[in-house]
Amino acid sequence: MAKVEVNLNKIPEGRNVTIKWRGKPVFIRHRTPDEIAAADAVSLTELKDPQPDSERVKKPEWLVMIGVCTHLGCVPVGESGDYGGWYCPCHGSHYDVSGRVRKGPAPLNLEIPEYSFEEEDKLIIG
Ligand code: FES
Repeated sequence: MAKVEVNLNKIPEGRNVTIKWRGKPVFIRHRTPDEIAAADAVSLTELKDPQPDSERVKKPEWLVMIGVCTHLGCVPVGESGDYGGWYCPCHGSHYDVSGRVRKGPAPLNLEIPEYSFEEEDKLIIG
């Protein structure tokens, strides 16, 4: 299966980048310390699909997810919604800064693809 290499040097803190992998969008966010703290502070009892932030990232500053809404497959919009993460305009699902669904019809958190860090600043997806 095809792998995609991403140079993380080019993504400043607080920014999102979308790349294509296996025909799907993959969202990469360079999270700020405040976002990491906010994602970590959420109680699992608040979540529809309970998952700690620490299980969704390999390095807290890098959030890597498949950019396909788990409701009916639209592509959510970054830096929007009520929880500081992503918003799916199709039917109004809101995802937080960990990509976890917080509101709306989506049943699950945004999916995490297989990925690894080959070097400090080199991400391999796939
Ligand atoms: Fe995203 Fe329906 S496809 S809310």
